[in-house]
Amino acid sequence: MNTVDYLRISLIDRCNFQCQYCMPEGTELDYILRQELLSHEELITLLKEVFIPIGFRKFRLTGGEPLLRPGVVDLVREIASLPQTQDLAMTTNAFLLAGMAQALYDAGLRRINISLDSLEPETFGKITGNQGHWRWQKTWEGIQAAYRVGFNPLKLNVVVIPGINDHEVLDLAALSIERCWHIRFIEFMPIGNAQLFGELSWVPSEQLRQQIRERWGLTESTVRGNGPADVFQIPGAQGTLGFISQMSECFCDRCNRMRLSADGWLRPCLLNETGQIDLKTALRNGVDTTDLREQVSQLLMIKSEINFKQRDSGTEGIYTRTMSQIGG
Ligand code: GTP
Ligand code: 5AD
Ligand code: SF4
Repeated sequence: MNTVDYLRISLIDRCNFQCQYCMPEGTELDYILRQELLSHEELITLLKEVFIPIGFRKFRLTGGEPLLRPGVVDLVREIASLPQTQDLAMTTNAFLLAGMAQALYDAGLRRINISLDSLEPETFGKITGNQGHWRWQKTWEGIQAAYRVGFNPLKLNVVVIPGINDHEVLDLAALSIERCWHIRFIEFMPIGNAQLFGELSWVPSEQLRQQIRERWGLTESTVRGNGPADVFQIPGAQGTLGFISQMSECFCDRCNRMRLSADGWLRPCLLNETGQIDLKTALRNGVDTTDLREQVSQLLMIKSEINFKQRDSGTEGIYTRTMSQIGG
């Protein structure tokens, strides 16, 4: 059985983008009310008294867009200063990052993954919600700031969508040559915008690797991240190319993570909510953290049986949650 020691913590379900693949245009989401968000104190209590004692050591802050969470820098500082924290990372769209990168780094964040689906400002504006090219500019400034400040590794996530950005695969891959940037191509999953998925479908990672191989050659890298990416490298490049292939190859058997939603639900899988625990309500009702630890340990014992594949055989409805609500 895999060691599950990685918790993805969604700080907020709101986002300042509205990516086409994440939520269909005009989607009205039921946002979590502020008082229903897990507070800083509740989150730190859960980490100290429930997750860390059970063996969780790696934490990733996600959203929606985590930089929209008030007090995010203080939260980073607190989690980074817990002696058991071995890895603290964030997944962001970088729109607000230029002004926050230094403060986040100083607070102890070292690893950052940024969504960058296009190098064409117009295309980027369209993908992220029918906006103008200025969105790309701010995101690009955020990426440059993260690089300058010293985040390492710096990973850029690309969801590849046929007919929208698949013509940019080589240009995006080329970003890994000169700088130590890690570009990850993600197979489009039928979450969130099921209609777009139905119309456009997805591109298998192997097809992308073939294009890259023909242009520069491609070798398997010895680097393995914490996550589901298969890592390759253009010969002589500074950075790497990762492929997250959940559609063509199920990687659930090496899953090492659980997810805590912004309103305090602990979920064992991205797409399968079997056994989920409402930790926030339990805390607010005065349930002892020793009991919560026991409940989470029980969920960990059955986690390997709860996965993406199993969801296919009968738990409909889970796709109604968007990636911004799940936390990526
Ligand atoms: P590191 O390798 O630790 O840097 O992180 P990561 O790749 O797990 O994190 P990131 O937030 O960048 O995730 C990238 C993408 O991988 C997500 O947006 C999802 O598309 C996919 N992904 C991450 N975790 C899972 C998972 O548990 N199941 C599935 N099916 N996809 C996942
Ligand atoms: N399929 C694959 N990845 C997705 N993301 C959002 N929606 C989807 C989807 N339908 C990715 C984003 C970002 C992360 C938070 O989730 O690109 O990197
Ligand atoms: Fe895009 Fe991420 Fe926001 Fe979804 S949560 S709209 S993927 S930036």
